[in-house]
This record gives sequence, structure tokens and C-alpha cells, in this order.
Amino acid sequence: MNHHQIVEWLRETDPTRLERLWHDADATRRRHVGPEVHLRGLVEVSSYCVRLCGYCGLRAANTKSRRYRMSKAEILDTARQAVALGYGTLVLQSGEDPGITVDWMTDVIRRIKAATPLAVTLSLGERADDELSAWRAAGADRYLLRFETSNRDLYHRIHPPRGDSRRDRMVILETLRRLDYELGSGVMIGIPGQSYDDLARDIEQFAALELDMIGVGPYLPHPDTPLAHLDQRPASADDQTPNDELTTYKVIALTRLVRPEANIPATTALATINGSTGWEQGLSRGANVIMPNLTPAEYRALYDIYPDKVCVHETDADRGQGLRHRIAAIGRTVGVGRGDAPSYVAGRKAAWTERAESDQDTTSTQESGEDSPYCKAKENHGLDD
Ligand code: 5AD
Repeated sequence: MNHHQIVEWLRETDPTRLERLWHDADATRRRHVGPEVHLRGLVEVSSYCVRLCGYCGLRAANTKSRRYRMSKAEILDTARQAVALGYGTLVLQSGEDPGITVDWMTDVIRRIKAATPLAVTLSLGERADDELSAWRAAGADRYLLRFETSNRDLYHRIHPPRGDSRRDRMVILETLRRLDYELGSGVMIGIPGQSYDDLARDIEQFAALELDMIGVGPYLPHPDTPLAHLDQRPASADDQTPNDELTTYKVIALTRLVRPEANIPATTALATINGSTGWEQGLSRGANVIMPNLTPAEYRALYDIYPDKVCVHETDADRGQGLRHRIAAIGRTVGVGRGDAPSYVAGRKAAWTERAESDQDTTSTQESGEDSPYCKAKENHGLDD
């Protein structure tokens, strides 16, 4: 699919043609990631944030937002709850909170990994390379960092830099890839000032970055943020992407087509604009992951990135049996185990094979032998002689 075709699909209004898009996305999903819907327990560990993102209710300047940070014991409790509910992954998300120190989070990750079989996904914002590296070494498996929009101007308008402006999210995504995290990113749909061209480029970017997890959701204006009160329009008025349900399904479907082996959630933001069938429709049009909220009730409403987040009203049943019934009702099964993205598993296998082959080459030709213990042993042996 080329850029022009993606734009055409994003602008498509004919229901019959759209049925074809939903059908193709669903068939691709079935072929590449199967019938399983993977459940990830989302824990919003801290609402403190030092950033000033124009769209997000947690922005530092929002004095109306009451801040909290969960204790280690509370986080460990949610991990046990995730296991009891049969989930394979715990997602630890927060604002960009310097109170979450590298050692503190390292300990949290180690304890979760020691006590449970859960995969751990981090979504803690733009952290320093050495922190990301320490958390990977402590056992964190995946990292989510949305690039929000691939339009550089728009990105800088809604996301003022802090410190080194060259170290933006694209650079950090490269670092995360190098650290061998299973890599997740995504965008908001219908940001004021986002054009159809921009959104099509976002989707192309998902493929270029070879993402393993791709989360997309509608932009939802938060009254206590500057973006909600700004009238930003792209060059021509009919070029503004809508932040609606239909456009969200189109982006989910197109994302599945360009990245068949990725994990794609039907997001909370989608369920916020359609609480009754948003998840089902997302899952039927390309998505294969749901992230039920496990944040303790007393904190949940305080993690106020956008208004009326659907999970605030969720009950225990919505996270357990009720959710399983909804998944079964659309002919799908609940995933067992960690639910790694096939794209990541295949990438790792390829890297191992390449390494094994190059090790073999090295041993047979007895060249450099830098990272082959076998060669080093031989060289040492020679020296000893
Ligand atoms: N509307 C929709 N999504 C939002 N996010 C933050 N604020 C909003 C909003 N007002 C999304 C961003 C962020 C993710 C954690 O939540 O994409 O990366």
C-alpha cells in the first residue's frame, strides 16, 4: 500500500468499500496473530509529570490535577491480581516522574519478575539511556513510547522539549530497539492540526520502525490543557483528521495491513468514545490486545490524561469473567502466556541465527574472535604456550 492509497482509505466514506477494509484487516489479523486476544493489566503507577504536553491532563502546569505515586507493595499487589485474572503481562505506566528513580523501578521490576511469570512492559516516558538499560537488565521485556505524530512541526507544538531537544522520541525508540526491548509506539488520531497526509505518514512510520506493538486512539480534548482551547487547523480546513470512532477503526485496520505481525490493542481511548462495542469493533477490525485497568480504585480517577476515561467506571467483572464473555461472544479466545508479538519473536530468532552463523564463521576462519569465548580460549592457549 502506498501513501496515496492510505490517504484514500482514511478519507473513504463508502460503507461497502469500508467493509472490504475491515474484512482484509480481520483476515490478516487471523492469519498472522491468530484468534487469541491478549490481556495486559495496565497499572498507572504515578501521575506526577514534569512535561508540558499540550494535550495531556497530567501536564506539570495543571494545578487542578491531584498527584499520586503508588507504593511498591501496591504495585506488587496489582501484579498478583494480574496473575489471578489470567493475564500474561503487566504494563507499568506513569507521567514522566523523576520521583520514579532508576533504583526504585529496578527493584519493582526485579520483584515482579521474581514473584510472577508476567511479562513486564514499561511506559514511563522519555527516560535516560542508562535508566532504560538498567530496567532492561532488571528484566523489563517491553517499552511503550508513542511518537504521537510524525509531523515534526506539529509534534514540537504539542510537545515542548525539555533539556536536550535533539533527544526526541524517535531517537529514544532507536535506543530501546538497540537494548532489545520489544518495542511499542503509536499516535493520537485527530490532533488539531493533523492532516490526512500526516496520519498516513504515521502509519507508514509504524512499518518503517518495525514496531512490535502499536497503540492508536482518538485525541480527546482535556479542558485543563492549552490544546483544548486552541484553534489549530492544517493549511486547508477539510484536511483536518477527525478524532472520531470511524477514523480510529480505519487506522487500526490499516496498521494491521502494514504491520501484520504486531500486537495492536483496542485502546481505552477508543472504549471511551464507544463504551458498549468499541473494544469488539476494534478487535474485529485488526486489533488483538485489550489492556484492562488494574490501577487501584482510589487512584484511577486521578490519572486524568483525558476526561471520562472509560475504566474509571469499570467493575471487577469487567476485568474478569465479563471481559472473557465479551471476547468469546465475538468468536475469539483469551491468549495464554506472555503473548509476545510474532514480529519480535521472529526478529530475535533471526538475530540468534545470524550470531550463531557468524560465530561459526569466526571459529572456522579463526579471525578476530572478539566475542567468541571459544576463540579467546584458543588464543590464550597459544599465548600460554
Ligand atoms: N487524548 C487522547 N490520548 C491522550 N494521551 C495523552 N493525552 C491524551 C488525550 N488528551 C495518550 C498519548 C500518550 C498516552 C499514554 O496517552 O498518546 O502517549
